[in-house]
Amino acid sequence: MSSTSLDAAALDLLFLEARSHNGWKPQPVDEALLRRAVDLAKMGPTAANSSPLRVVFVTSAAAKEKLRPCLSPGNVEKTMTAPVTAILAFDPAFYDRLPKLFPHADARSWFAGQPHAEPAARMNAALQAGYLLLALRGLGLDTGPMSGFDAGACDAAFFADGSARSFMLTNIGHGDPAKLFPRSPRLDFEEMASFA
Ligand SMILES: Cc1cc2nc3c(=O)[nH]c(=O)nc-3n(C[C@H](O)[C@H](O)[C@H](O)COP(=O)(O)O)c2cc1C
Repeated sequence: MSSTSLDAAALDLLFLEARSHNGWKPQPVDEALLRRAVDLAKMGPTAANSSPLRVVFVTSAAAKEKLRPCLSPGNVEKTMTAPVTAILAFDPAFYDRLPKLFPHADARSWFAGQPHAEPAARMNAALQAGYLLLALRGLGLDTGPMSGFDAGACDAAFFADGSARSFMLTNIGHGDPAKLFPRSPRLDFEEMASFA
C-alpha cells in the first residue's frame, strides 16, 4: 500500500500548482463532489479518531446572506461570488461520539469535562480542515480558506443550538486565475525543519 506514491501531476494538483483563490468562475459545484470530499477527508487521522470537524456547505443565496455580516470586509466579495462557502466548525461535545468512533476503549472519559477537550477539538478539527482542502483539490476543485470572519456571529447565525463552533471558512469552486495574487515565498527547509 505505502510502496506507491503520487505522480508529479497529482503532487502539482495538491500542492505545487494549487493556490488559494480570490475569484471564481461562474461554473457551479456538483454536490456529489462535496460529499466525496468529506468522505475522503474523514479518513485522515485524528486523536483517538475523535473526528471533531463539522461542516456546513453554504450554497443558497439566503444562507450566503446570513453569512455576509460575519465576513471581514476584504472577504465579502470573494465569498458572495463563490459557488460554495464551507463553514468549518468543531463539535465541542465531540467526545459523545467516541463510543462509536473508538469503541475498543472508554475514550469519552479522556475528554468529557476535561480542560484539554476544547484545545483537542480545535487541533483535530483544524487537521481535518486541512485534509478537506486537499481532498477538494484532489477532486479538481479550488479553495480559498479564510479566518477573516466573526466566529461568534457566524455561530449565532448557523449554530444557535451550540452544536458546533466555527473556526474557519473556505470558499470552494473553480478559481479565476486572473484574480490570484503572486505566489508568496515559503520557508526553506532549514528554517522550518531539522533532524535530531
Ligand atoms: C487558516 C487560513 C486563513 C486564511 N484567512 C484568509 C482570509 O481571511 N482572507 C484571505 O484573503 N485569505 C486568507 N487565507 C489565504 C492565505 O493568505 C493563503 O492561503 C496563503 O497566502 C498561501 O497562498 P497560496 O495557497 O496561494 O500559496 C487564509 C488561509 C488559511 C489557511
